[in-house]
Amino acid sequence: MSAASSATESRTFFYVRYNMLNQLEQLKSGALQELEAIKDSKELEAWRVRYLGRKGELTAVLRGLASLPIEERKAVGALANQIKTHLEETIEFKNQALEAAQLAAAARTTDIDISLPGRPYPVGHLHPITQTIHEICDIFGSMGFQIVEGPDVEWDYYNFEALNIPKEHPARDSMSSSWVHYPVNNNDRGMLLRTHTTSVTARVIESMKPPIRVIEPGRVYRYGATDATHSPMFHQIDGLAVDRHITMADLKGTLYEFARRFFGEDRKVRFRCDFFPFVEPGIEMAIECGVCRGGGCRLCGNSGWIEILGAGMTHPQVLQRGGIDPEVYTSFAFGIGIDRLPMLRYGIDDIRLFYGSDVRFLRQF
Ligand code: DAH
Repeated sequence: MSAASSATESRTFFYVRYNMLNQLEQLKSGALQELEAIKDSKELEAWRVRYLGRKGELTAVLRGLASLPIEERKAVGALANQIKTHLEETIEFKNQALEAAQLAAAARTTDIDISLPGRPYPVGHLHPITQTIHEICDIFGSMGFQIVEGPDVEWDYYNFEALNIPKEHPARDSMSSSWVHYPVNNNDRGMLLRTHTTSVTARVIESMKPPIRVIEPGRVYRYGATDATHSPMFHQIDGLAVDRHITMADLKGTLYEFARRFFGEDRKVRFRCDFFPFVEPGIEMAIECGVCRGGGCRLCGNSGWIEILGAGMTHPQVLQRGGIDPEVYTSFAFGIGIDRLPMLRYGIDDIRLFYGSDVRFLRQF
């Protein structure tokens, strides 16, 4: 290229650049002016398409850049990008302003104040008895016990017979059974609402192989009048461990640990002898009364202690009947009454509150 023609060319480009810069400035002021007048989001969208869209005016200018030499391209390109950013920011402001205006207009035309925060929905939660069962299951779960469940409607066999409570045994009377089918002769299989979750223990001994460590939460039923401390349906958790060399020390250690974790480090625990047909020896565990701390009060019947569970070393005959050799394996078992525990913890003096479904009561836990 000759010197003369190159000079002409650069002058030409100078004009082109000058024109383009001018054009861009005009585009910008035109666009901003139009934006001022926009009153709704539909118009705003049309505006965006017109100036910033893929086929919009600004894009067209940017496309034209390709034909310019590099120096010119830089100058025009920089301005075009600056304008693009500026327009994009402005549209965002405008959008917010339109939304606010829309909201304000809606608030003026209806009776509903849509800017008021909503009312929170009340959040439900688990029943205090269920919470207690979960807590106890967590404690024994961390000691390696597995949760097992059995049927509420139970055969006489698992509720009584398998647990060394044959027909005519006095322990049957103390349990006030609700019979679904009362056996009419010796070959008949009786069926009842289980009176304790120890029925699940009988099933586990029959169906699982040692080593066994299970806990068995559930509802139990005893026929009788309802009062502040008696409900015809309540809850228990039975526990069972079967293995070689299990001793009374394991039972006491396990129950101490449970009491410590559930009631706290400083609560005293007492073991005493007791009788249950399915264990030998049998014991009961009581905790120091939380109200009088052992001094004696109305809650603990002036004894200073509250019984919370029965336990013992599983009777060899019970193991044998379920197919576990008592010469090889030993076992401990326990049964905890659940309903009393939240009553003690929260000072609730009427068991019926748990089953009355009054949300004013239940909401508190
Ligand atoms: N089933 C007994 C009851 O309802 C409680 C009980 C005592 C369960 C001793 C056991 C146990 O597993 O070993 O009164």
